[in-house]
Amino acid sequence: MYMFSKRLNIEYEPNELSLLYNLKKNHGERIFDLTSSNPTKSNFKYDKHIIKHFIDERSLVYEPDPKGLLTAREEVANYYSEVGKEVQVEDIFIVPSTSEAYSYLFKLLLDAEDEVLIPQPCYPLFEFLTKLDLGNVVYYPMVYDYRDGWSPDFVMLEKKISPKTKAIVIINPNNPTGSYIRENDYENFNSLSEKYNIALIVDEVFSDFEIEAGENTLKSVAGCKSNLTFVLNGFSKMLALPQMKFGWILIQGEKKLKEEAVKRLEVIADTYLSVATPIQYAAKRLFETREKIQQEVLGRIKENYNLLKTKFLLNPDIKVLNCQGGWNAILNFENMLVPEDEFVLRLLDKKNVLIHPGYYYDFFSEGYAVISLLTDTDVMKKAIDLMSE
Ligand SMILES: Cc1ncc(COP(=O)(O)O)c(C=O)c1O
Repeated sequence: MYMFSKRLNIEYEPNELSLLYNLKKNHGERIFDLTSSNPTKSNFKYDKHIIKHFIDERSLVYEPDPKGLLTAREEVANYYSEVGKEVQVEDIFIVPSTSEAYSYLFKLLLDAEDEVLIPQPCYPLFEFLTKLDLGNVVYYPMVYDYRDGWSPDFVMLEKKISPKTKAIVIINPNNPTGSYIRENDYENFNSLSEKYNIALIVDEVFSDFEIEAGENTLKSVAGCKSNLTFVLNGFSKMLALPQMKFGWILIQGEKKLKEEAVKRLEVIADTYLSVATPIQYAAKRLFETREKIQQEVLGRIKENYNLLKTKFLLNPDIKVLNCQGGWNAILNFENMLVPEDEFVLRLLDKKNVLIHPGYYYDFFSEGYAVISLLTDTDVMKKAIDLMSE
């Protein structure tokens, strides 16, 4: 047992929900699965020519560059210019995915046991990512107001800052709360960054998937003035192509800090040189598919979100929380009489509807569930009817 690193001392057994799901599947039962987040298995019409863009003779030559090929970085800069943001090509690092971007940044910023502030609730990836790089996660609360939606609780956040805090993660829009960052919130984050000398990591993988962003929200912080900020994005969500493994880190902030960060990040990236050449040459043509695939995905997520809102509007037990963007929606079960995990198990057992309990996403109290807006709309309709019975 002690042969292995403690960072992997985690729960390995499948939980009751996945056991029941597999049992039902093996019995050939039809499950109304509201949890699937794999866009490539969600019946979207992808441009089949995408695959041809990988045939490029330039890929036969190995041109290692820690920041990634210049042509690929230029395409990323071009994307920002298309969405009205001005960024510099030399501030961009190409990485295989945003998950790996976090790993690079944690190596850049953390020593063992250092702390990373993560929003709560939040997608359960970040705790693993932090632990794998020997850091510790400290959660800061996001609070929900029926009129204003979600926002970070800065009083609590500041209390959680310690001498070990090295980074604050902001997810814009957050998963699963679907909330974009407000301009004044970004100012607050920056003040804390300056006051305590902490870097900001702004994960914008869902940024292009706006359902209805509120007033004074920032769809992207790229190009904004800051102390030291790393903006993350990639094809996984932006083009609904997680298998292509193309992401990036955009570095911005005070000149000296930025230069130091670039120098050190180059060493990390040069050690791994993980990004494959064919995807970097294909990037230009893949970016060109952005509008079409995003229209498809946005059409689906908006339709599902509106369906949930209208169908549950008069249901006294189920509230749909306000969602500004992203691929998930949150249901609040006002009168959940049993614990959340039991409730979700019963729903699967009795009605064959699968949803994720809020505690998967570290909600601070019981009574929440997260569902995927990528779900086929007919499946969503049927599941809503079953849940309303
Ligand atoms: C907010 C957020 N960031 C990053 C990721 C991981 O993205 P990637 O596939 O680029 O590693 C996810 C995955 O769902 C996510 O929800």
